[in-house]
Amino acid sequence: MRILIVLSWVVLLSACTQPISKNSRQEYAVAMPDKFAADVALAVLAEGGNAVDAAIAAQFSLAVTFPEAGNIGGGGFMTIYFNQQADFLDYREVAPGAATREMYLDNEGNVITTQSLFGAKASGVPGTVSGMWEAHKKYGKLPWKRLVQPAVGLAKKGFVVPEKLAGKVSRYIERKQQNGIDGNFEDYFDAATQAGSLFKQPELAATLERIRDLGLEGFYKGETANHIVSYMQKEGGLITLDDLAAYQAKWRTPITFPWRGYTLITAPPPSSGGIAVAQWLGMIETVIQSNPLPKQNSTAYLHLVSEAGKRVFADRAEYLGDPDFIDVPQTELMIPEYIQSRAQDINLTAISATDEIQPGLYESEDTTHFSIVDSAGNAVANTTTINLSFGAGVVAEGAGFLLNDEMDDFSAKPGVPNYFGAIGGEANAIAPYKRMLSSMTPTIVLENESVKLVTGSPGGTTIISSVAQSILNTLLFNMDAEEAANSPRFHHQLLPKDTIRVHPGIDEATIQALKDMGYIIKESRFGDVHLILQNHGKLTAASEKNGRGKAAVVSIP
Ligand code: DON
Repeated sequence: MRILIVLSWVVLLSACTQPISKNSRQEYAVAMPDKFAADVALAVLAEGGNAVDAAIAAQFSLAVTFPEAGNIGGGGFMTIYFNQQADFLDYREVAPGAATREMYLDNEGNVITTQSLFGAKASGVPGTVSGMWEAHKKYGKLPWKRLVQPAVGLAKKGFVVPEKLAGKVSRYIERKQQNGIDGNFEDYFDAATQAGSLFKQPELAATLERIRDLGLEGFYKGETANHIVSYMQKEGGLITLDDLAAYQAKWRTPITFPWRGYTLITAPPPSSGGIAVAQWLGMIETVIQSNPLPKQNSTAYLHLVSEAGKRVFADRAEYLGDPDFIDVPQTELMIPEYIQSRAQDINLTAISATDEIQPGLYESEDTTHFSIVDSAGNAVANTTTINLSFGAGVVAEGAGFLLNDEMDDFSAKPGVPNYFGAIGGEANAIAPYKRMLSSMTPTIVLENESVKLVTGSPGGTTIISSVAQSILNTLLFNMDAEEAANSPRFHHQLLPKDTIRVHPGIDEATIQALKDMGYIIKESRFGDVHLILQNHGKLTAASEKNGRGKAAVVSIP
């Protein structure tokens, strides 16, 4: 024990005393949603793999150990800073070729909400395996097989089910039954996922072995593809063999913008997140240029951030969608003068008017995010999802993985809110092979040319608030990583009218003052921030305590 303590002091001291240059850091760090993925990523980094290698291995591992959101049946976004170049990988799902604009409407033209949320018809064509393959082709250093293998092992040999996962599974089954939703979820997750038991997933292991050995073809063709399509045909889903064979992850130019001397690298369309964060931070900046900065999480702060949020979400609903299908006025929405003009009519003491539309809520939310910095100073911010917890709630039989319900992120009908209360119209209407608008916002912040912050969160539309507030907490209010990840957050998105969702922990007097202003306050947690922060060349990493994450910084002696 004493030897261990002495050794760790030596490691700590050497990290503190050695100068850390921009390109040859003496440390690497991960902030992951669970300990299995954290250990898998740390092992890859210890073996000399880079941040993208670690991300690929973590993504596959999460598909096994974090089934509520980690996936091979969904999609995501990866923001990358590699050899001092910014890059962005879009592995978002697309609508199947047979999808139509009216596919979730009944004969009277009303949205049948359950159909875009549960069962095979809710699924877009999965993008994750194509995404990981592309990431590996462009940046991978360790062999593909080495990166997929840990997930194979976890699925085949099993892992001990954490209490929090067991709780999510049983609550999900309860809610499913209460809402009369069927599907094969309980055939795969139930008795086998009791806390403390060893959970093995043989079908998933075999699918991962095919991916390991055959790469893309192990998923988008052959046996796995046949399992997916047979299940679709049996259950009324739309995905075909042609859809799978045609799926392609895309490299895109990330959004980059300056803010308070930093450079932010973040998610472009089909995410709404990057534009939203740019607008949100820009409006706050405009206001605090000519007014005092309110104290973090004070009444004035929650009001200001909410007012800015209203304007962000109004633009999101009107203009944003898949840039391969519509013209997104990205440049216009991010011009500083435009953002400043949007902030001009914010009244710092009163709520501005909004129309009233109420979204319907069914069940809990899950996506997942992780952040990595390697010893060369490269960084990955990766957010990935099957949309709600456990996606469409059904497993592709024979292939052993949960299907996504990402189709709900489209606007099924203009003006009708989706699960997250987001409305949209033409820009985000359903069309074959189109990507549904997302809020996922994996973000890297640079100071000069070095990584200052890597951040992201799940939470549907609240992702944008979690990301913006994690940036504000660290870089405007100078919190350390732990405090920034765990400080109570809040979210306002235009609709429902004047409603602010708050984490527990915002003080009572603030809540009362907001109610006195006319706000409706709904207390409920959202998000799960995993961030890495660099200060004076030293990395610190934090995973929000409410989840089951693990963050670690390793010093190289
Ligand atoms: O892409 C999106 O914006 C959503 N499908 C993300 C869903 C999500 O974050 C669920 N929850 N935590």
